[in-house]
Amino acid sequence: MCNVYCFSGSGHSRAVAAFLAEKLGAAVQDTEGAELSSAAPCAVVFPVYCQGVPAPVKAFFAALRAEQVALVAVHGGVSYGRALYEAKKMVRGRVVAGAYVRTGHTYLREGNVFDGAALLPLVQRLKLLREGDVLAEVHIPATRKNPFAAFAPAWRSRLGVRLLRGDACNGCNVCGGACPVHTMRQGKAGGGCIRCLRCVQACPRGALSFRLRPVLHRYLARRRTAQTVLYL
Ligand SMILES: Cc1cc2nc3c(=O)[nH]c(=O)nc-3n(C[C@H](O)[C@H](O)[C@H](O)COP(=O)(O)O)c2cc1C
Repeated sequence: MCNVYCFSGSGHSRAVAAFLAEKLGAAVQDTEGAELSSAAPCAVVFPVYCQGVPAPVKAFFAALRAEQVALVAVHGGVSYGRALYEAKKMVRGRVVAGAYVRTGHTYLREGNVFDGAALLPLVQRLKLLREGDVLAEVHIPATRKNPFAAFAPAWRSRLGVRLLRGDACNGCNVCGGACPVHTMRQGKAGGGCIRCLRCVQACPRGALSFRLRPVLHRYLARRRTAQTVLYL
């Protein structure tokens, strides 16, 4: 058995998790509300936010009891910093595989395309976990991270991205139910918002949208293409 857990804001990490789960004959489980007492091996798929690990995923890692863990960090081609290196330190179990997976950037409204073929060696390793093999720990290097990236990431995301509530909002609060940090109320984001934009996707009336402030727009325009990288 190999569990596949996923945290996803705009669905990109979910698409990668669904790809891996399908190859393993497993189902994707949300990190939120997951039953974590099991020591069974698992893959955890999560997005890179501000070159690091999103706050809800940090809380998940603190509760995770799996003895062997594969970490899959999905990013939008700006810079993945050292998200896997940081995640590895948060996990109690042995990290036996790691992957940075390049997909579209949420803020650039890009789709969740990724190179599935590049992930097949990772799938092979996950299949060994599923069969009960005990695997060696992998080395995940401390790749370069912009020193400013660690400074109040959620606050900087709020500065860079405006959430807009349109007239179509009828206060149904579906967005509130979807919010992973429980800060959304009837289309209005509270101070703890991490700008994952799950609320924008969840709104059944399309009443929520977002706009990038010029500073973030300029930053993303300069982005470099990063590859999918595997540590096996
Ligand atoms: C709050 C936030 C911060 C992000 N920071 C980065 C980043 O530092 N580097 C990067 O390459 N992509 C960054 N991205 C893009 C996401 O990593 C990328 O779009 C990913 O596919 C989103 O996955 P999701 O849809 O599962 O949330 C960021 C996206 C968001 C919403």
